[in-house]
Amino acid sequence: MLIDPFQRQVNYLRVSVTDRCDFRCVYCMSEHMSFLPKKELLSLEELDRLCSTFVALGVRKLRISGGEPLVRRGIMTLIHRLGRHLETGALDELTLTTNASQLEKYAAELIKCGVRRINVSLDSLDAKKFLAITRWGKFDRVMAGIEAARAEGLRIKINTVALKGVNDDEIENIVRWCGEKDMDLTFIETMPMGEIDGDRSDQYLPLSQVRTQLEKIWTLEESDHVSGGPARYVNVRETGQRVGFITPLSHNFCESCNRVRLTCTGTLYMCLGQDDAADLRAPLRASEDDKGIIAAIREAITRKPKGHDFAIDRLHPAPAVARHMSVTGG
Ligand code: 5AD
Ligand code: SF4
Repeated sequence: MLIDPFQRQVNYLRVSVTDRCDFRCVYCMSEHMSFLPKKELLSLEELDRLCSTFVALGVRKLRISGGEPLVRRGIMTLIHRLGRHLETGALDELTLTTNASQLEKYAAELIKCGVRRINVSLDSLDAKKFLAITRWGKFDRVMAGIEAARAEGLRIKINTVALKGVNDDEIENIVRWCGEKDMDLTFIETMPMGEIDGDRSDQYLPLSQVRTQLEKIWTLEESDHVSGGPARYVNVRETGQRVGFITPLSHNFCESCNRVRLTCTGTLYMCLGQDDAADLRAPLRASEDDKGIIAAIREAITRKPKGHDFAIDRLHPAPAVARHMSVTGG
């Protein structure tokens, strides 16, 4: 088992399989991003080996993310292979965070790999606004992707980043839409990760305001639901829906953190909001034996920090960490 210095058990690994994406969401990336050269990437076999080592060390949940994971060539091969840990019972859940642009193509195959639930990032239901937020996104393809996934029986959670002056007038609509389609929903605050073209303090919308907005329409009841993540939940009494809030800025969720993040180059980040990292690529490539990887992972966990120091305001104009969310996959 992996236990950190604050007695938190690390049983959840998130893997960013590519830093590339077919969208350029305004709060996530600048329009002209330079991505890693393809030769820097770990191969799918190497990613499998690292993930499987984590599973051997007690990781029970794997999330494949990016960038957009489904734009990486051959990605389904990796997801299939990782699915074997579900069959042996070593893994409880294999899941994915996606922008849904490729879901029409892959939904059926994901089910075959043992994936049962996915997170879909979607910030607007208005095609024009969707384009303004994602810059390059194709709204109709995303909607078709979501429908394809539902038709295959994949359970969907929508993640919506709350953006001031952008989608704050759509909050109610998004809640209703998710309710109609029986999809879970979580709102997220923008986090200061990586340079973008604008100023994040212009976009930052505290979720307390989102909540206040919802409370004007519905009765929200505190829920004791825990999803194994940082979200806090409320139940909407009138609709029976569950709505989550991830509030890294207005509320620090680190005390129950159970996760670490692996990048597509084999760098392990012990915290989303800190720069400290461990290189797993060197021990991976040094030997066919996994002992070196195991030692490096154990050493990294002893460095897992207590929490992040995110802040977005005029006093902190620079990102808290230089890397973009797409490097570690959120
Ligand atoms: N702050 C908050 N959320 C972000 N995401 C990407 N960049 C940021 C950011 N700076 C979201 C995406 C996706 C998830 C992986 O992270 O919308 O839902
Ligand atoms: Fe791509 Fe997700 Fe970043 Fe948007 S938020 S650019 S979909 S990685």
